[in-house]
Amino acid sequence: MRRVVILGTGGTIAGTAQDPSRQWAYRAAQLSVSQLVEAVPELEGVPLETVQVAQVDSKDMSWSVWRALGRALHEHLERDEVAGVVITHGTDTLEETAYLLQALHDGAKPVVLTAAMFPATSPHADGPTNLRDAVRVVQEAAQRCLGGVVAVMHGRVWSAGAVRKSHTHAPDAFDGGDAPPLVTLKREPVELEEDVVKALSRLGFRAQGAGAAEPAEESWTSVWHRCGRWGWGYLEADPPRVEIVCSHADADGWIVRAMLAQAQTTTRPLRGIVVAGTGHGTIHAGLTEALREAACQGVTVWRSSRVARGGVLPREGDEWPGVPHLTAAQARVALMLSLLGVSFMA
Ligand code: SIN
Repeated sequence: MRRVVILGTGGTIAGTAQDPSRQWAYRAAQLSVSQLVEAVPELEGVPLETVQVAQVDSKDMSWSVWRALGRALHEHLERDEVAGVVITHGTDTLEETAYLLQALHDGAKPVVLTAAMFPATSPHADGPTNLRDAVRVVQEAAQRCLGGVVAVMHGRVWSAGAVRKSHTHAPDAFDGGDAPPLVTLKREPVELEEDVVKALSRLGFRAQGAGAAEPAEESWTSVWHRCGRWGWGYLEADPPRVEIVCSHADADGWIVRAMLAQAQTTTRPLRGIVVAGTGHGTIHAGLTEALREAACQGVTVWRSSRVARGGVLPREGDEWPGVPHLTAAQARVALMLSLLGVSFMA
């Protein structure tokens, strides 16, 4: 069996709480990736390597962590004895990292991101099950010659370009926007203590592994979504500054004009704006005026939507391009890459 390399970046999956009964009062990114592996009995005997690439709460994700990830992926995916890579990550910006990696990866081997909604010290920690599933997905995918980037959470495999966090605290917190999961995993039910099941259902959650809809058989697609194949070298560049601006009632463009005023005094000038627009990427008239001023000063403007599903499809007469399918945060990554010369839409 070829090896699976697990790259740790932090997140709630590596989080700990002083008082395990107060699961919301925890700190992310406390345990090392090797400690996470040790907590999963099913991984004993599996040929694994762990590498701590970063240790961050993913709300603080940065280009420099992405650069370190790119270097580690470059190093380990090249090795013949490596079947693929798992990345442990925070849930908050997982969709951005997933999209970025999909644009750059050559797609030859599987790269699987996983995370957790409950910290490692919680009585119903979901990290160990998700990590076990992620390693299995790498192994299965490698056997089926499937390469590319996916996310594995709560028994489902999501395409990197579609995955997004869609719930702030439920264990089943991810979906694919309009895209269904690539695979729904068949899993051994996790034995949860009765009081945990009761506590979860009081909170309106379905206990993981207890009654969750699972397929009789797993159905694997014969291809995963294509990768951009642009190469990790793009992460060595300095990131162009791209900001997200939301269109909302009273959006009069003040924020855009403030950015333009600041842009003249900074070493990292504003290069792009992604608008999280209303509905089908529409923009308040006041904000539109300010965006025109930005565009005149050489700032690239793209439109996404604040609405969870549907994306912004191109229409005749669009003043600025709409971004189909991606969240505003993913569209920001796409625009940064585009300004570096990478043209990729998942
Ligand atoms: C994080 O994104 O690092 C913290 C939250 C989480 O992982 O659920």
